[in-house]
Amino acid sequence: MKHLVAGNWKMNHTSREAAEFARRLIEKMKPRPSADVWIFPPFMLIQAMVKAFEKSDVRIGGQNMHHEKKGAFTGEVSADQLLDAGAKAVIIGHSERRQIFQETDAQVNLKVKAALAAGLAPVMCVGETLAERESGRTSDVVLSQLRAGLKSIDRKSVATLEIAYEPVWAIGTGRTATPAQAAEVHALVRKELREILGDAGAGIRILYGGSVKPDNAKDLMSRPDVNGCLVGGASLDADSFAGIIFGAQ
Ligand code: 13P
Repeated sequence: MKHLVAGNWKMNHTSREAAEFARRLIEKMKPRPSADVWIFPPFMLIQAMVKAFEKSDVRIGGQNMHHEKKGAFTGEVSADQLLDAGAKAVIIGHSERRQIFQETDAQVNLKVKAALAAGLAPVMCVGETLAERESGRTSDVVLSQLRAGLKSIDRKSVATLEIAYEPVWAIGTGRTATPAQAAEVHALVRKELREILGDAGAGIRILYGGSVKPDNAKDLMSRPDVNGCLVGGASLDADSFAGIIFGAQ
């Protein structure tokens, strides 16, 4: 399975900084990497980044979307609007959306279905908090988020689905899951994906996210079922992002 290295910029970068990032990353990606590379900038930078990367294989996506097609939802963005801007993918249910913006499993499920129906590749995020891990609830939490997020999904529709396992305690903390810890949860996720989706569950990439850096990316992605990574802080700088991309060879 081809690795996917995805950068989630969160609420970072102005248009000038993004343009400079694109110029430098394109330079670094000669020769072409063997991994897929996707970048998730803030909404208003999507069009500019689609243009900046149009001659490369880099795909651009949104960090969130609303499940309705259109209407009176001030401040929200639809799947069709993301597609119209040139996005090909969307992150759904990131732990920051769940924790800071009270997004529920039910909303995540609606969004995943709406993204698939519209033709956007959803990257659905799951992951436990530190308290949940320390109380031995990691697998319960991760598997219940997975089941709820994929509830009543049509098996035939999931070809473009990606899953990201992002332990909340590892996000932005510099405290990465060890490759063994990541591999353990990824194996559980894989088993559950097969249970929920049958054969289709075997082909879905499972990304690891949480303090991925150039010096730990290679080891993480060499583990079974760690099919790529979702990178926050280290995706903001073209040098460190390129270091991760080429670690996925
Ligand atoms: P960091 O790489 O900054 O820990 O963020 C991970 C993340 O949340 C990616 O979605």
